[in-house]
Amino acid sequence: MIEVIKTAHIGFCFGVNRAVSKVLKAAEERKETVHTLGPLLHNPQMVEILRQKGVEPIDDVFAMDKGVVAFRSHGIMKKEEEHIKARGLPSIDATCPFVKRVRKYALYLKKHGYKVVIAGDERHPEVRSVLSYLDNDGMVLDNSFSIEAKKIGVVSQTTLDQETFSEVVSSLARSAGELRVYNTICESTKVRRAEALELAGRVEMMLVVGGKNSSNTTKLFRTVKAVQPLAYHIETEDELRPEWFAGIRKVGIAGGTSTPEAIIDRVARRVKNF
Ligand code: F3S
Repeated sequence: MIEVIKTAHIGFCFGVNRAVSKVLKAAEERKETVHTLGPLLHNPQMVEILRQKGVEPIDDVFAMDKGVVAFRSHGIMKKEEEHIKARGLPSIDATCPFVKRVRKYALYLKKHGYKVVIAGDERHPEVRSVLSYLDNDGMVLDNSFSIEAKKIGVVSQTTLDQETFSEVVSSLARSAGELRVYNTICESTKVRRAEALELAGRVEMMLVVGGKNSSNTTKLFRTVKAVQPLAYHIETEDELRPEWFAGIRKVGIAGGTSTPEAIIDRVARRVKNF
């Protein structure tokens, strides 16, 4: 039988767990659909389960003039929040407190005259949300860059890897008169990455389980693949192919912060049965 080893931290992170609990509780208590601005989490299977329980993603809050709205763990755009307040729509704030911390530091830096840099991916909803609260008066960087500004303040996307963050910060240090840095990478991301890396070094194959649209799962997969070239990114056990496992005796499994533990357990069971 193939030995399967999972990383210690698996299943939803604190912020995703909190968001899922909040919206499910609201949908049950209010007996009406709760609308999330975009999918609540980057995991298509879980989004479908939530849909069946009365949690429905929407793209455009501006078309809404009634119904309950939930802010997802990545946060919300400032204009969306203003619209929700102006319309008096009932809302559930499921923004992860660690994401709010990024926003808090970014606003603090702006208020104190720093040119604000968010180290991260400009397309990621969390980064777009933080930028919107800065009234788009900030820069997003994911590699070395030089800025001519006396005072530069840096925060990071919560799911950024430490290497990219360090690269951005050290490049800015060359030109900044004053550089203030808040490392706001979330502990959950760091721990999962470290555990996955350690595990990848002592197994013959790694499986990284999570949404293909999940930024943290995709980054986790890239990290793992650099150490263990025999690695696959899958969303569910149905993507596993028996031929992958010919001659393999030890498989490691890691998961993204929005991957339900139940899916990981199903993957582990399927692998053991090959
Ligand atoms: Fe929050 Fe960190 Fe998860 S920022 S949503 S606890 S990955």
